[in-house]
Amino acid sequence: MVDLIPSLEELRSRPMAQQPQYPDPQAVEPVLAELRKRPPLVFAGECDDLKARIAEVAAGRSFMLQGGDCAETFESVRAADIRGKLRVLLSMAVILTYAAQVPVLKVGRLAGQYAKPRSKDTETRGGVTLPAYRGDAVNGLAFDAASRTPDPNRLLGVYNHSAATLNLIRAFVKGGFADLRAVHTWNSDFVRNSNVEGRYEAMADEIERALAFMVACGVDDASLRTVDFYSSHEALLLDYEHALTRIDSRTGTPYDTSAHMVWVGERTRQQDGAHVEFVKHIRNPIGLKIGPDATPAEVLALADALDPDHEPGRLTIITRMGAARIRTVLPGVVAAVEDTGRRVAWVCDPMHGNTFESSLGYKTRAFSQVVDELNGFFEVHRELGTWPGGVHIELTGDDVTECVGGVDELAEADLANRYETACDPRLNRNQSLELAFTIAEQLSRGRALRHNPVQEFHVEDF
Ligand code: TRP
Ligand code: MN
Repeated sequence: MVDLIPSLEELRSRPMAQQPQYPDPQAVEPVLAELRKRPPLVFAGECDDLKARIAEVAAGRSFMLQGGDCAETFESVRAADIRGKLRVLLSMAVILTYAAQVPVLKVGRLAGQYAKPRSKDTETRGGVTLPAYRGDAVNGLAFDAASRTPDPNRLLGVYNHSAATLNLIRAFVKGGFADLRAVHTWNSDFVRNSNVEGRYEAMADEIERALAFMVACGVDDASLRTVDFYSSHEALLLDYEHALTRIDSRTGTPYDTSAHMVWVGERTRQQDGAHVEFVKHIRNPIGLKIGPDATPAEVLALADALDPDHEPGRLTIITRMGAARIRTVLPGVVAAVEDTGRRVAWVCDPMHGNTFESSLGYKTRAFSQVVDELNGFFEVHRELGTWPGGVHIELTGDDVTECVGGVDELAEADLANRYETACDPRLNRNQSLELAFTIAEQLSRGRALRHNPVQEFHVEDF
């Protein structure tokens, strides 16, 4: 392991942003020793499969749907919660697959998304100042000194809750839940009378008829009953990610087995920093989050560091520019990277650049701005002739009220009804499905240009 992956000491000697400050720094060591002995959560071969799928996205033949909570919590590792999120993701995937007729790569932002970068180290309420909440991987959300004190034992909780989540997801996606003949049942408890519900039901009816037709024709493929689903999260806590890194016996190379894909965040992507150094050495597919202030030169340097060999599927660049700036900033970044001949997957995160505080003090996002950023993303790629590879969304399966607007026209005054997020505001189920229909429309527009018609035979050909 010595040469293949930098030691934790070596990583710690570099600038390492956004790490917990444990009261007793030594206390983390026995936890890491335990994690190093635990079985991997994913298999290296699965990471390679995902890389091959991302290469298809980068080549313009597939679309990536990546989504889940902003921050998972230990408390929400419940069957109903996990099923709810999976159901929304599968429903969105069906909308995209059916309406845009593009293969959809399904990647969850889950089974490991427990650590959060924060802009401030502390939070003050009513004159009391405590450490900021950094995710269940580090401390507790409750605003008292005991909860907010970083506890290294929580890293074992991350492993255990990730394993439980991934186990259930694997059972669901291979065990019948993802069967296309169940499209209707995913939304049987839908909020009634919404416009989105009508559209979804109409589509589900069409799919059911098409499937029945295929079955009658004798087509009954296993791919209609299962999906391949991958896990991802931000590689933020390097103690944890390093402890879960294993040398793959087939290839003799290191993989971070905490998830199939990990990404480096906008706040930890310093060129000489420990995060970039760490992910350089693992063979997983890597995501890189890029905000509106990144220069094309900066992005190029990071792309060279993370993907020196221009390996297909290795790099996904997730842009989070904000609706106001995407149309001016994204073209330069995309053009600079594409000019090098490198193929990356371009994914739009329309959430993180569009956060604001509501008049009543809730952190929120406007659905209209989310849609505006997505539309900008598609426009820029259409203009440049590059492929809009995917979206990265923060969502939940519940009917929460965290983002304003959308089909139910949630107003700022409605936010108090069900505001449950541990971190950023998430799209609820209706908003997520509405977004999927919007994306599908954009994709089918592009497809009209790319469509490869079935060859027609004319009598005079023979
Ligand atoms: N296996 C195919 C796919 O993943 C078809 C499929 C089966 C599917 N169940 C699904 C697609 C659920 C989306 C959602 O594309
Ligand atoms: Mn977030």
